Amino acid sequence: MTQIKIFDTTLRDGEQSPGVNLNQLEKLEIAKQLERLGVDIMEAGFPASSKGDFEAVKKIAQTIKHSSVTGLARATKSDIDYAWEALKEAEEPRLHLFIATSPIHMTYKLKKSPEQVIDIAVDMVTYAKKNFPQVEWSAEDASRSDLDFLAKIIEKVIDAGATVINLPDTVGYTTPKEYGQMFRYIRENVPNIDKVSLSAHCHDDLGMAVANSLAAIENGATQIEGTINGIGERAGNAALEEIAVALNIRNDFYPYYTNLVLKEIKRTSDLISKFTGMAVPGNKAVVGRNAFAHESGIHQDGVLKHASTYEIITPAMVGIQSNNLVLGKHSGRHAFKDKIEQLGFQLTEEKLMEAFKAFKLLTDTKKEVTDDDLFVILTDIQTDISDIKKYQLKAFQVQYGSHNLPTATVALTTPDGERVETACTGQGSVEALYNTIETLVKENIHLTSFNLSSIGQGRDALAEVHVSMTVNETPVHGRGSSQDVLEAAAQAFINAVNRVFFTKTAEEKQKAKI
Ligand code: KIV
Ligand code: ZN
Repeated sequence: MTQIKIFDTTLRDGEQSPGVNLNQLEKLEIAKQLERLGVDIMEAGFPASSKGDFEAVKKIAQTIKHSSVTGLARATKSDIDYAWEALKEAEEPRLHLFIATSPIHMTYKLKKSPEQVIDIAVDMVTYAKKNFPQVEWSAEDASRSDLDFLAKIIEKVIDAGATVINLPDTVGYTTPKEYGQMFRYIRENVPNIDKVSLSAHCHDDLGMAVANSLAAIENGATQIEGTINGIGERAGNAALEEIAVALNIRNDFYPYYTNLVLKEIKRTSDLISKFTGMAVPGNKAVVGRNAFAHESGIHQDGVLKHASTYEIITPAMVGIQSNNLVLGKHSGRHAFKDKIEQLGFQLTEEKLMEAFKAFKLLTDTKKEVTDDDLFVILTDIQTDISDIKKYQLKAFQVQYGSHNLPTATVALTTPDGERVETACTGQGSVEALYNTIETLVKENIHLTSFNLSSIGQGRDALAEVHVSMTVNETPVHGRGSSQDVLEAAAQAFINAVNRVFFTKTAEEKQKAKI
């Protein structure tokens, strides 16, 4: 059995999904969960792209001990220097360096000849190797590149010190057969190929990212890049959980294994979905809500008689608990603490107290608090930047009647601690509420999406709202949860505004330091 290394790029390519913007605490929580999941390498971001990304990569590199942490760099000295500054404290600093190799990219984007691209690639790998023990070199748009040119440039970057060669299907254009043949060609035509490992990186534009990744494995790739839930640019990246489970379930066919801890998959998927605001489709393989639901009578009958008649993956294998009823009104602090440790949360004493208060408040109105409810409460508290001043919802009231003009009255405290309140109307309750909050925060806001879902079942279930908007042209995402849908909607809106406010404050602080 050959090991296939898992390279997770949820925090880099995944974060490039339209509308996704994670704050530093969220990125760190995702990184810790990816470490628990057992990814071999995590791409924590693109340090030269922004101050925020630089800081997040640095923090993750300082924190994560059991996965190798990497960051992306274009083929420029300044990108490599930024990456080194961010990654130098990692257990095993690793650089992910890329340049495009396809005729389309070289001609129109880089405006460079193939020979110039070879020179730049070799110079930059040589430069990177002065600091980084591990340098992965990616041929962007490899699947649309000329194979002889690809073989030539790969041989040269290996001589310059690259340790991993990645051949991305950047635009999700290739087919499994073609992609596999490319790996075979490179293995057979690059004389020094045995000095490196080969990596696959697939996008899902034609829905073939997972199939293409598996074809690469069959043809010599020993590292697979992708994201959890398959999030990423455009149609996304290969879903790592699908690849890992496919290799496991079909080990009769694939003589390969990964070190992923499969029972951490569900939690990782939930956390990423919650933080990114990208809902997992119900029918998504491995982690979708319906992936283990059997609807037809014939199927239900079969599963009851013998689960394997229609179930090839057990829910338990990927960490889906069948019984997630937990705590209630009479549960004390000890039981609560035990439960949150079981759920894998590590909170400071202060945040633990805050979480316990939120839990007790919920038990006043909700008889049974489930793991899913706790997950929402705990992740919100864990990633709340409580020491930064922000807008806070103090009170609100919405009047709605089938023959009335919906009207909302809202009271907020501003980041300066001032209490402000006003009332506005709208075509519906949510619009009235949002018009009112917008007036109070005095920003130019354009709502682009609004999604409401329930956490678990029952009339008393928690509501969770995700919104995407632009605040003064900056795209941002926000989330809120509450038993009341309007309160969840208000919290999501304010959360999004606060995110822009935090970024602005952090940038101002940074400028003041410089
Ligand atoms: O898809 C791609 O080509 C990439 C590179 C930066 C590796 O993400
Ligand atoms: Zn990519």
